[in-house]
Amino acid sequence: MSPDEIRRQLEFLRDMGIRDLYVSGQAAAPPPETFTPRRPEPTPTAAPPPPPVMQPSNLSLLPSIEPPDDSMEKIRQDIGDCKRCRLCEGRNKIVFGSGNEQSPVVFVGEGPGADEDVQGLPFVGRAGQLLTAMIENTAKKEGIPLQRPDVYICNVVKCRPPENRTPMPDEMEVCGQFLYRQLMAIRPKAICCLGSTASKALLGTKEGVMKLRGKWARWRDIPVMVTYHPSYLLRPYNQNAKREAWDDLKQLLHFVYD
Ligand code: URA
Repeated sequence: MSPDEIRRQLEFLRDMGIRDLYVSGQAAAPPPETFTPRRPEPTPTAAPPPPPVMQPSNLSLLPSIEPPDDSMEKIRQDIGDCKRCRLCEGRNKIVFGSGNEQSPVVFVGEGPGADEDVQGLPFVGRAGQLLTAMIENTAKKEGIPLQRPDVYICNVVKCRPPENRTPMPDEMEVCGQFLYRQLMAIRPKAICCLGSTASKALLGTKEGVMKLRGKWARWRDIPVMVTYHPSYLLRPYNQNAKREAWDDLKQLLHFVYD
């Protein structure tokens, strides 16, 4: 196999959510519990939805470091000129996140790429342009007045991994604490995980996106919709997934904005 074919195969496996190419005999992590978030019934006698059950993830079981009076400003300050993991070595700019900090929906990607690293903003490269188009076009088609700046977008890791490799578990663990704080500070009505790194960080599962997408899960008490990462949708063999991603987004936006 040529190096190009090997790279394509590895990309394909990665897109499938397959990260480890060996089986150690360990049982796979169970898929996260899924649920259908309830909207209030139109009748005045409708029972309130049951309190959501906390969805523990490996990372969210770590001791909480969220200060009680947390804010996005404080999180930014605490990140500072971060040197907590090896990703600081190759980064140009820390990519904290962007958009409306009161947004009812937060999109979570994997980590900055080359364009994001230069600009210090998430999803500004090709994948970002697709994400913007997906959000704005789906909203428009569904009659929801929504532009990209109305939502909040951030990543699991805030510094670009070298060669755009997948963030390592220890990098996700360290930076994940800031992601959790961002999510708790915003407290959106729903979260959208873009791809398997985000779903792993928030749901604590190795289950691939194909299995997770289109169904509701939850992080703490917040409903989570998993969908494909826009980079995956840019690859020519994944055109069917585009339609599915549009469906996922439609479901998400109606839940949040109806
Ligand atoms: N991919 C991501 O996961 N995040 C970005 O910000 C850009 C590309």
